[in-house]
Amino acid sequence: MGAIGSLKTPMITPAKLELDGQVYELPTLRGTEGEPAVSIAALRDKTGHITLDDGYSNTGSCRSAITFIDGEKGILRYRGIPIEELAEKSTFVETAYLLIYGNLPTRAQFRAFSGMLTDNENLHEDMKYHFEGFPSTAHPMAILSAMINASSCFYPGLNGPRNADRFDVHAARLISQVRTIAAFSYRKSRGLPIIYPKRAYKYTANFLHMMFSDPYEDYNLQPEIVRALDLIFLLHADHEQNCSTATVRMVASSQANLFACAAAGVCALWGPLHGGANQAVVEMLQEIHKSGDDGSKFIAAAKDKNSGRRLMGFGHRLYKNYDPRATIIRKACDQILKRIQVADPLLDIAKRLEEAALNDPYFVERKLYPNVDFYSGIIMRAVGIPLEMFTVIFGIGRMPGWIANFKEIMEDPKGRIYRPRQIYVGSGLRHYVPLEQREQ
Ligand code: SDX
Repeated sequence: MGAIGSLKTPMITPAKLELDGQVYELPTLRGTEGEPAVSIAALRDKTGHITLDDGYSNTGSCRSAITFIDGEKGILRYRGIPIEELAEKSTFVETAYLLIYGNLPTRAQFRAFSGMLTDNENLHEDMKYHFEGFPSTAHPMAILSAMINASSCFYPGLNGPRNADRFDVHAARLISQVRTIAAFSYRKSRGLPIIYPKRAYKYTANFLHMMFSDPYEDYNLQPEIVRALDLIFLLHADHEQNCSTATVRMVASSQANLFACAAAGVCALWGPLHGGANQAVVEMLQEIHKSGDDGSKFIAAAKDKNSGRRLMGFGHRLYKNYDPRATIIRKACDQILKRIQVADPLLDIAKRLEEAALNDPYFVERKLYPNVDFYSGIIMRAVGIPLEMFTVIFGIGRMPGWIANFKEIMEDPKGRIYRPRQIYVGSGLRHYVPLEQREQ
């Protein structure tokens, strides 16, 4: 399965920077969709200055050919294909192949890729003992990160030279096993016997089987439920340089192995400002539902800086318009709940909250719209996923994107370790003071 795409980007007229009375020229470039950038690769050598950009809002860390986002227009494309088309016509596994290898697979490529996922769906049997060590209350994201690294111990080849053939099997193993680890951790947390994957089942159906079957009775795989979860995985599959993907690239730049990079990505994703938001959204909706509030008190709190509250599932660093994934998921919520004849009061609360926020100047002025996490929890509840597993579902979905970014780093002949600089604002030079001379 070959590499793809060129990371070359056309240069345009240089930028001029005046510093201390001297004018410097800085190269500029444009991405495929015309996004302009100033290259500061030689800035410090030329001017002695670095740039400072808290949160990297204005800083590109790399050239990438995987995902394109236009936040102002609410555009999201995986390898050039609009997310709306993939959501309607593709599946998670096919989209995973697209993200990792750059093109939609031929029939033979898809069969080979699916076969590798099936051949690698089991964990090493000794992994079971690691599950024994976790308390039943352990958060599944802690287990997921730990077990990805634990699983890597059974594959010494992971730390060998990075080449295409080894990459393919490591990537398939990670995508397949992350699902098995997640299901096993859920079963363990409920004191239930673990359910092994079935070779005959496709990716998402197999996950639901491992989550909800019992030794004496298979889970009833309803096609609309399988499709709904597959859509959630697909919509989470990549999102350019978000916090967790940037973490994966950071760790990959040191030439750590693929599983170590993914485990680091899981830890970054766990935060409530990132992937943990989907769990926080449902907790917020449940709190509103329980309080009988129509949402207005909550919106008031979210606008009050001193409340420490935010409207979870709202806002995005890039999208200053609707997150296209939120639009797709919102529509899917209505369809799925109708099809399985479930009425979820939290969906009505979410819609009311959205309506109120989008008519409130605070949110309008700051261009805060629903993001991918605002409605995804409603679908996961309908599928029967427990709340504490919501971010794990996000992690399973995001795995192909992390792997695709790892591959770009691995294949970059000029790859360098990521090492940002800083501006030091601590104490000036001072010397050691013996204990007896320090004020008590
Ligand atoms: C994901 O990067 C990605 O691509 C991430 C992701 C992916 O697929 O990987 O899309 C997945 O992480 C989606 C985001 C999930 N997180 C949440 O829903 C948590 C709630 N949202 C926010 O915390 C916030 O909007 C962020 C973290 C998503 C973005 O934060 P930024 O870009 O740093 O924005 P900011 O904190 O600087 O906010 C700008 C202003 C501030 O007000 P002012 O200081 O200008 O008065 O908007 C306010 C913020 O207080 N604000 C909010 C808000 N989000 C921003 N106020 C209330 N509720 C919110 N949700």
